[in-house]
Amino acid sequence: MAEQRTRLGNTDLIVNPIGLGANAVGGHNIYPNMLNDETGKDVVRAALKQGINFLDTAFIYGPEHSERLIGEVLKETGQRQDTIIATKAAHKFVDGNVVFDNSPAFLKTSVDEALKRLQTDYIDLFYIHFPDEHTPKDEAVGALKRLKDEGKIRAIGVSNFSIDQLREANRDGDVDVLQSEYNLFKREAEKELLPYTAENDISFVPYFPLAAGLLGGKYNHDTTFQDGRAKNPLFTGEAFIQNLDKVEQLRSIAQSKDAEVAHLVLAWYLTQPSIDALIPGAKKPEQVINNLKTLDVELTAEEIAVIDQIFR
Ligand SMILES: NC(=O)c1ccc[n+]([C@@H]2O[C@H](COP(=O)([O-])OP(=O)(O)OC[C@H]3O[C@@H](n4cnc5c(N)ncnc54)[C@H](OP(=O)(O)O)[C@@H]3O)[C@@H](O)[C@H]2O)c1
Repeated sequence: MAEQRTRLGNTDLIVNPIGLGANAVGGHNIYPNMLNDETGKDVVRAALKQGINFLDTAFIYGPEHSERLIGEVLKETGQRQDTIIATKAAHKFVDGNVVFDNSPAFLKTSVDEALKRLQTDYIDLFYIHFPDEHTPKDEAVGALKRLKDEGKIRAIGVSNFSIDQLREANRDGDVDVLQSEYNLFKREAEKELLPYTAENDISFVPYFPLAAGLLGGKYNHDTTFQDGRAKNPLFTGEAFIQNLDKVEQLRSIAQSKDAEVAHLVLAWYLTQPSIDALIPGAKKPEQVINNLKTLDVELTAEEIAVIDQIFR
């Protein structure tokens, strides 16, 4: 099952439905006390060795460092041709502050620079990471379409776009993938984004699928966090306790299927229309391997409905 493959929307990108979210790989700016580079590379090596061929990174993870480490591992293993690399850009440093830029010139430069860091001559899936305030979204996607025609990228993605921004971006039908926050605790995407992607053959890649670990089923009332989760409303106060109770309700269903909570949760997303593949993050090689067990979980219609109801 670990070698299972699926197509991302209408693209010619064929991926393992379980990919790897690589913001912890080299992402020293995102997580304090972060993995050292060698552990980050081990996470990527473990993924590739186990048949995970879909790696999700971005300019801002590091910044630049996650892309570089992935480039180094792909060179070392010789698996570039078999791997689908997704990366993103929009963040620009101006006088020490980050601003978003979706201008055609900035996107073109961002693709060229990412190619160098990744040590490759094409990027399989390139996302506009965040919308900026000024660039018309169809113009931004038009710039990516030209890069696609030149062979520098194979598919076009947008991320963190509202439904109106997505409609504008997809005016000519060129958006292949939308990446948005979506998990059992954060289900806003079900209102408009998921119906739109399903109707328009756009693949929806949810980020934070494990709600930054909360849906992994291993935290309890005594767990404390030293990173950004310490201030995240899902992880604090009464809400944290209620959220843990919901996660506990999944445990017996998971056990009845000889699976863990994380597998049940990830398998549930894959039953949703337009969700073809997932990019759970991992900080240890064992987590990467463990997440592949998702592909052995088959949910009945009743189980899908029960899980839905717990988190309604
Ligand atoms: N487009 C965007 O703006 C955007 C934003 C955020 C993220 N992303 C992408 O989405 C990916 C996923 O997000 P994320 O990594 O932040 O969060 P996530 O996938 O929701 O959670 C990942 C965390 O869950 C825990 N975990 C992983 N496997 C587990 C398992 N089998 N059992 C129990 N716990 C497990 C680990 O944390 P612990 O070991 O600490 O428990 C891991 O770091 C990122 O890597 C990135 O590529 C994109």
